[in-house]
Amino acid sequence: MENKKVLSPTIIFIFGGSGDLANRKLIPALYNLFIDKYLPEKFAVIGVGRTTFASDNDYRDKLLEGVQQFSRRKGEPNGQWKSFAEHVSYHELDLLNTETYTSLATWVNDKAKEWDAQPTVIFYLAVAPQLAPAIAVKLSEQKLCLDSTTRRIVFEKPFGHDLQSADELNKLLGTLFDEDQIFRIDHYLGKETVQNIIAFRFANALFEPVWNSNYIDHVQITAAETVGVEDRGGYYEQAGALRDMVQNHILQLLCMVAMEAPISFEANEIRNKKVDVLNAIRKLDPEDVHAHTVRGQYSAGWIKGKQVQAYRQEKSVSPQSPVDTFVAAKFYIDNWRWQNVPFYVRTGKYLHEKTTLITIHFKEAPHYSFPGEAAETWRPNRLTFSIQPETSIRMRFQAKRPGPNMILNPVDMVFNYAEAYDGYEPEAYETLLQDVIEGDPTLFMRADQVEAAWKVITPILEAWQSRPPIDFPNYSPDGWGPEDAEALIARDGHNWVSLPSKNKE
Ligand code: BG6
Repeated sequence: MENKKVLSPTIIFIFGGSGDLANRKLIPALYNLFIDKYLPEKFAVIGVGRTTFASDNDYRDKLLEGVQQFSRRKGEPNGQWKSFAEHVSYHELDLLNTETYTSLATWVNDKAKEWDAQPTVIFYLAVAPQLAPAIAVKLSEQKLCLDSTTRRIVFEKPFGHDLQSADELNKLLGTLFDEDQIFRIDHYLGKETVQNIIAFRFANALFEPVWNSNYIDHVQITAAETVGVEDRGGYYEQAGALRDMVQNHILQLLCMVAMEAPISFEANEIRNKKVDVLNAIRKLDPEDVHAHTVRGQYSAGWIKGKQVQAYRQEKSVSPQSPVDTFVAAKFYIDNWRWQNVPFYVRTGKYLHEKTTLITIHFKEAPHYSFPGEAAETWRPNRLTFSIQPETSIRMRFQAKRPGPNMILNPVDMVFNYAEAYDGYEPEAYETLLQDVIEGDPTLFMRADQVEAAWKVITPILEAWQSRPPIDFPNYSPDGWGPEDAEALIARDGHNWVSLPSKNKE
């Protein structure tokens, strides 16, 4: 697994170094990259924040707990952890204070002298989104990002709250940095199974000829979660499922399925092809919004044997909250390839199963040459990309059931990642951090992508705001969301696919 590229010495500042993201995702990812020898020989990770730690060792001990709890390699933190942790330190600093940045600049200069090299410097903003603009301004004012080839800034979502705020944020960042320095993370793009959609489509001659409205009946994307909003009620009240999941992750999955073949794997080429899809998604009129979308909010209930409270009772949530914890929607892409092919998407909290699935439903065979009884269980072909937790690709086709009579039944041909690659499945953040270190922006959101996605979502947000929901809460935990979500797809003669592993219809 070793990285063959020669990487420059690298300094990674994690702003919000004592926070949840650093603890759960960033440090475990860096640790795994270290074990797999993907980090440069000379590197330093510096947590920056206002929390007090008695010493660097104290900080490292806290990170080790995170690694033991959240890293994919839990069992072997001993020997390797110690060598990794030597590269990690903590600076207690206020990110809104100008002097913080002068001290960081001095630190970088000292390190450059010690290493006798100009390092790549990454500023990872793992902070509350409202702090990001002020930090970006300070980084720029203090000239920490002047060299666009070696200085990079990583932003977590949300990128704005709607089209206007995203546009303002992008304009601000555009005045401070080069677009090439800005890495906007959508962690779904780092998932192995998501990246593999491109390999599947464009490294095989078999599928592309049928990848269009002549052969494909419809596409479904489900991103279901079994958790509620947990302790993120304050954030979620400003977001809702549409902003939290659809504007970014789900539309990115849709782009992977629907994009045209890139001419090359150059970052901007791939990103251009995705923007084309976003721009081609039909923008809904206010009247269409109600026919093409369903919103839901969970009530109190039970999930996996545990009693849970309604969204409106969660901490920092208004008891009258109109915020959506579930969305289902039907999109159309107005271009030659996808004319009239519906893309159904749904996502929600407290659903029956944790699963992210993309299913491509092919049209029926044009002619049934088999006797009636042979074809009772005849089903159209279906391709399923299971993004998580199972990581697989399944192709459903018809087979003859063994026996003297010609009876057909659907079977699955399965490619399973864990089996094929001995369980080697790097976490999304490993891939993304490695790309930031290498300066490869392919899997990151460009400013125009973010705005094109907001253009799809904004009409829905506006129509919903103009008609507050009257039936919330409208779904119980441990199901598949509100009844209307079933109706949305059933009206077109389809049903949601949820459990590929059980080969369920
Ligand atoms: C985040 C959302 O972007 O994605 C969360 O803010 C959500 O609300 C999470 O739970 C889901 O990510 P994953 O990788 O667990 O599917």
